[in-house]
Parts: sequence; structure tokens; C-alpha cells
Amino acid sequence: MRRQRFRAQWRAMTFLIESERRQSQLDFQASATEIEVGDRRDCPLPLPELLALHPGHPAVREVHEGGLTAVVYKVHALGRDWAVKRARTPCLVQNVDGQTSFLNEVQRRAEISALRAEPGGAGRFPGIVSTVYASLRHGVAVSPWIPGTPVSTWDARRFQQVFETGRELLRAGFFEWDFSPGNLLDDGQQVWLFDFGYMYRFDPLRHFNSGGDGTTAPLCHLAERIESRHVFGTWLDQDPADVLVSFRQAKCVALATYRQLHDELRADGATAQVLGWLAGVADGWERALAGDLHGLYLREGWRSHVMDLEDDLHGRTCTPKTLQRVDWLLDAVRTHHGALLAQGGLFDGDEARSRDGLIARYTAKRREAEGLQVRLAA
Ligand SMILES: Nc1ncnc2c1ncn2[C@@H]1O[C@H](COP(=O)(O)OP(=O)(O)OP(=O)(O)O)[C@@H](O)[C@H]1O
Ligand SMILES: [Mg+2]
Repeated sequence: MRRQRFRAQWRAMTFLIESERRQSQLDFQASATEIEVGDRRDCPLPLPELLALHPGHPAVREVHEGGLTAVVYKVHALGRDWAVKRARTPCLVQNVDGQTSFLNEVQRRAEISALRAEPGGAGRFPGIVSTVYASLRHGVAVSPWIPGTPVSTWDARRFQQVFETGRELLRAGFFEWDFSPGNLLDDGQQVWLFDFGYMYRFDPLRHFNSGGDGTTAPLCHLAERIESRHVFGTWLDQDPADVLVSFRQAKCVALATYRQLHDELRADGATAQVLGWLAGVADGWERALAGDLHGLYLREGWRSHVMDLEDDLHGRTCTPKTLQRVDWLLDAVRTHHGALLAQGGLFDGDEARSRDGLIARYTAKRREAEGLQVRLAA
């Protein structure tokens, strides 16, 4: 009963695709409207004191200022630790999505808090940090501190938890683009997401993701985002034999997740286009798990490293990892060009380029990435 009401509400909403979403967020920002989540009386310190936090404040235990949009303070108060996220003004990212990322974060926190406040909703999204208080105009978001560490190696529990969180978000109409290493923490029991700057609304019944018109970027989906932003990066530092074992584990979890998501979205009334696309992706994995897993590894690795390389070049935020990624691509094309072609793994014009052409192209990108190295935050 509750679920039916919930679905009807979703259908009645206007789902914004990329350009409309950007414009609507710019308009919202210009309107100076406040969004408040939670009650300021629940803050661990009085709000004016939180707004005046500085590294020398006696309650501040750590300062994380590597991010371009925010500074995060670890604050000890009321007998426990809290994360106090303060938006940078101005934000240091020079594009619309960066400029609106704190607004986006507060919007998502408001929506997720509202879903959790529904009858029976308290247990939803177990891997998503809760919001104690957030205010758009004050540029602050307060959450419990997650006593965890970044995920540097993946195992079955970690895969299962991040895919489970992603699936639950998708079904509720949220598409998370940024599963990067700085945005995931593992406390040994649970993998947590806590940064909602690039999580956008979309209609999971009609769209693949929140990009373009919702169906123009079929390459981008939950497993692709997790693999491109995070997992393939960690595999670069591991023994190739271990990587293939871990890849099998990832694909088994991804396959089970997509089969479940497919059935749930079918029951919710998804279009044949969405269901066919999801089933097609999952069928490909199933075939590879029973046959040519290395071929699939090459194809997904090519896709993930190209996607992340292009992101880094575009954002002018290259690191030594970017160089490792482009070296992986160069090695793949030198050693496995025929297999990559046969797998249908080359895309965006690369399928029409010769092996030598690809080597020249990615060698040039490596040089570009060498010139765009950013200093890593401490
Ligand atoms: N609730 C939390 N518990 C523990 N650590 C946190 C929490 N929230 C943030 N952090 C720490 O602060 C860092 C930065 O947080 P977050 O990713 O939210 O902001 P940001 O990276 O500055 O934003 P952006 O991704 O736009 O650059 C995280 O990588 C993490 O180390
Ligand atoms: Mg972040």
C-alpha cells in the first residue's frame, strides 16, 4: 500500500534531464531560496559556532580541505565525532555542476531524509550517511563521523554493499556519478557514501541515467560508475592474477544486482527500452562469466580507463593515477588490439582508428596528462 502511494508520487514529479536540471539549479541558486534539512537545535555545537569553525577550534580534531567544493571538519562534541562540511565560497570548480554541487548536495540530503522519515523508511539506504542538519544559505551540512578508511582493496562484502546502495538509490530515482576513492569509506562493517555533490535525480523507469536526454549515454550505469571511478583504479596496483579473481567477484555481484534491479523496475512499470538495455548488459556479463572473462575484462577496462582519463583531462585534474591509466590503455592496444576490436570494446571513434593511430592518440594524451598534474592534497 505504502509503496503504491510512493510510486504514484514519483510519477507525478517532473524529472529533469541534464540541461534542464542545470538551468533549474542555476535559477534556484539565483533566487537565494533557503533549503534547511533537520533542526539546528540538533547540531553538536550552536550553529554560529559551527559556522565559525577553524582548524584551531578546541573541538576540531581533523580538517579535510583537499576538496574543491568544501572543507570538512571532524568535530568532537556531545561525546562523539561529527563531520561538519562547509561549502567553499566561491567553489573552486569552474563549471556549472561544480558551482551548483553544494546546492545539489543539500537537495539530495533533503530528499533522502524525507524518504527516511516516511512510515517504515528509517531503515532505507543503510550505506548512506544521515544528515543531522544542513543549510544551503549557511553552506553547512552536519553528519555523524564515519570511523572508516578509504577502500583500497575490494572484497565480496564491499562489492555487495556498494552495489546494494547503488541499486536502492537508482530505484528511488537517484543516479550517483562519483564513486571516487575520496567519496567512499569502509568502517569494517559497512561501506558508506557521504558526498552527494554529483548525485542527480532521474526517472529510472524511462531513463538510463541523468545525462543528456536520459538515454543518450547508455555506456554510463551503476557498475560502470563504480568500476570507472574506483575499482579499475585500485586494480592498477594489484597482481594481474588477483585482479581477474576480483573482476569475477565484481561481475557476479553486478550480475545479481542487475537481475534484481531489472525485475524491480519491471514491476514498477519501466519501459521496454530500459528493461532491454539492462538485460542486454547483464546477459553480456553472464556469457562472459561462463566463457571469455578476460575478453570482458579488456572491454570494461578500456571503457573505464578511457572514461576516467577523459574526465581528468577535461577537468585538468590529472594525477600519477591518470598516467597509470593511460599506460594501461597503451599496453592494451599494443598487446590486445585485435581482441579489443572483436569484443566491440573500442568506442567514440576509436573503433575506426588503426592500432598505430590509437598508440599515437593515447601517447599524445599521456603527454597532455603529464602537463596537467595537480598537487595531491595531504
Ligand atoms: N561523515 C564523514 N565521516 C568521515 N569522514 C568524512 C565524512 N564526510 C567527509 N569526510 C572526509 O572528508 C573528505 C571530503 O568530504 P566530501 O567528499 O564530502 O567533500 P569534498 O570532497 O570536499 O567535496 P568534493 O567531492 O566536491 O571535492 C572525505 O574524503 C572524507 O575523508
Ligand atoms: Mg568528495
